[in-house]
Amino acid sequence: MVDCGWSSPEAISACVAITHSWLKMAGDLAGLGSAALITALVGYILLLRRHRDKLDGMFNECRHRATNAEEAQRQFDARIDAANQIEQKLTSSNTALQDEVRRLREGVAANAAAHETLHDALELSQSGDTAFWRRPSLPLHDAGLPLQVRMPCPILMFANQKGGVGKSTLVANLAAYFATEGFKVLAIDLDYQGTLTQQMRLEQFGPGGPPFGQALDAKTILRDRFRKSDWPTYRINDAIIPATNNLPRLRTDRASGQLFYLANDYELSQVERAVEYHWVLNMLGDDPRYRLAAFLSHAAEVLQLDYVLIDAPPRFTLGFINGMTSSTHLFVPTVVDLSSTRAVETFARQFSELAPRINPAIHWAGVIGTMTTGNDGRLPQTLIPTAQSTEYAVRNRIPNAGPFFYDATIPRSSQITEGVQSGIPFLRSQNLQKSGIIQNLGNQILDAVDEHGPQPSPSIARSPEQLSAV
Ligand SMILES: Nc1ncnc2c1ncn2[C@@H]1O[C@H](COP(=O)(O)OP(=O)(O)OP(=O)(O)O)[C@@H](O)[C@H]1O
Ligand SMILES: [Mg+2]
Repeated sequence: MVDCGWSSPEAISACVAITHSWLKMAGDLAGLGSAALITALVGYILLLRRHRDKLDGMFNECRHRATNAEEAQRQFDARIDAANQIEQKLTSSNTALQDEVRRLREGVAANAAAHETLHDALELSQSGDTAFWRRPSLPLHDAGLPLQVRMPCPILMFANQKGGVGKSTLVANLAAYFATEGFKVLAIDLDYQGTLTQQMRLEQFGPGGPPFGQALDAKTILRDRFRKSDWPTYRINDAIIPATNNLPRLRTDRASGQLFYLANDYELSQVERAVEYHWVLNMLGDDPRYRLAAFLSHAAEVLQLDYVLIDAPPRFTLGFINGMTSSTHLFVPTVVDLSSTRAVETFARQFSELAPRINPAIHWAGVIGTMTTGNDGRLPQTLIPTAQSTEYAVRNRIPNAGPFFYDATIPRSSQITEGVQSGIPFLRSQNLQKSGIIQNLGNQILDAVDEHGPQPSPSIARSPEQLSAV
């Protein structure tokens, strides 16, 4: 240390020198510090720059990763969307599959039911010749009421399960006779052979008539469920054909009658088969056994008919059964011999099984001998025992059955054989008219009908729609 004092100039100058050297040293020292500071600052700045570059790198890296992450997110979202769509598709195809499975199950159940029904029908058909047609109505329509056919006029059915006994010829002759008596008469052909139709058409057109192409005929009625709205008067008039406009007027005290017919042809057999199959499989909304009854109870009123005569086929078909359910009276034409007696007996048994089930109102009104020998319509003595045993066999089955018409048979006659060649024998042959054979039988039939007239009970009588629905 310098001992500084103000005692002498030397001391002062020494002091100044010392101070100067101190200051210089301090200055030097300050210069050195600045340089160091600057160096440090520069170093720091360089360090900061490195950090900034590093941070920039990291930032860029982060941005890059963020971009990648965004892309990944986008792809992820797209995949989620695709997955959602697939899920939706899966859900809807699952629903469709479930629907399909349900439909298949229903189909299987329906098939099983159809199989059972068919099996029952087959069992039924094996259990007797009328069992099939005695099937109960569809449960839906089974009102459990005794059936009562409400017909505005007598409906007379001519039937026998034996063929070729003269049913169609008899119906044509009787219908023509009743018409000449002043009645409005409808003859219905329910046999696909169309024998009655053929006689009526010959009467209508003569031998050169147009080919059969009737748009509305008996098979149209059997084909579909009856609805009154489907049968306005003009359509009924199209189906019901006038057989002749030249009816001889045998009764001048009465207004002239009319003879109509409801035609048929071979196509009926296809209709019958189709309807029967559908009925067995419970595929119909109505009971096809009552379609004609429903139609007739409507049409007979519209046309103001007095009598309907039905020509039945010699077999249990849909047409035959419709005839039975429509009719108020049954007449059984038969040849008078032993084999025909057995046929009538069988038919009586079948009738006694069927009628109570499908038409309790129908009355077995009598048996008519056809193609007999003799020429006055009386049954020859030699045939009476056979006729009696026929009558006995019938009454055995049907206690209230009508008689055998011993005094009114139809002999085998050339007037009939020849008459059918050109139309209805009763209208064609003066000799047949003069013989009074058809008139005699016709009158006995009308007497029997009057005796056993239809007695509809209003409380259970059914409308045409109800009939078709039973
Ligand atoms: N009284 C009669 N005299 C002569 N020939 C008759 C008589 N009745 C019917 N015939 C004739 O007998 C044949 C059979 O008659 P028809 O066709 O009327 O019988 P069907 O019982 O209706 O027959 P199917 O059972 O086939 O319906 C016909 O050729 C007909 O001309
Ligand atoms: Mg016939």
